Amino acid sequence: MQGYGESSYGDGFADVYDDWYHDVSDVDSTITLLTSLVPSDRLRDGRFLELGIGTGRIALPLAETGARVTGIDASRAMIERLRAKDPSGKVSVIVGDMLRGLPDASFDVVFVAYNTLFALRSYERQHELFAEVAKRLVPGGSFVIEAFVPDVGRPAGGNVGVRTMAADRVVLMADVHDPESQTVDGQFIEFTDGAAVRLRPFSIRYSTTTELDRMATDAGLSLADRWEDTRRTPFRHDSVTHVSVYRRASVS
Ligand SMILES: C[S@@+](CC[C@H](N)C(=O)[O-])C[C@H]1O[C@@H](n2cnc3c(N)ncnc32)[C@H](O)[C@@H]1O
Repeated sequence: MQGYGESSYGDGFADVYDDWYHDVSDVDSTITLLTSLVPSDRLRDGRFLELGIGTGRIALPLAETGARVTGIDASRAMIERLRAKDPSGKVSVIVGDMLRGLPDASFDVVFVAYNTLFALRSYERQHELFAEVAKRLVPGGSFVIEAFVPDVGRPAGGNVGVRTMAADRVVLMADVHDPESQTVDGQFIEFTDGAAVRLRPFSIRYSTTTELDRMATDAGLSLADRWEDTRRTPFRHDSVTHVSVYRRASVS
């Protein structure tokens, strides 16, 4: 999408993110799952890295458990929201691109929630991310991805829907799907009586689970588990979401 950059999503959604998306997934079961991936004798020292940390929906409650949490996000507006909720700085935050700006450090668990991997808008960038993550995982460390399973039957072209309808306000969502490039470009368009129109753009390149598994293999990671969600609902052929855990081999 013309004019769209790494910080466009966060800058566009920061003011409404917690209101619109606070319940997009189950935070408690996410934290239970993430912490279960660190051996219990190391849990107090467990190091976690969240890619696209946003306003800290998951990272802040994870840090409340005593875990050491670092996050990276391309949007200063999102990070400002997070910092306002974390005045004592329990979570370490880096402003930068999740592919190019990763810290030179090792982690027990790296995770990317709520379709955020698809914000890297090419196969190549996602493929490269797996390699960058693999380099930063301790032996036996895990890379956790939560994302939707692409609907292979979705036709090419545009689609418009209604998100919010009120007497003085309507929020529409318009998007364009290109199955060839596996991209969806869209806008939330907000009309409020007496105010200027507000646009919130998004742009993703989605990947199938088969593609993700190949990227992981190329980076030396192997699929350890796949569920439908963070409550560990079994993954089925008709699941529309997945939580995949890729593991770096332990040193024997
Ligand atoms: C859908 S939000 C998810 C936020 C949070 N992880 C959650 O689950 O609520 C996606 C986040 O990824 C960030 N983001 C998008 N592209 C990015 C990139 N290339 N590098 C770092 N962060 C990025 C956005 O700014 C936004 O905060």
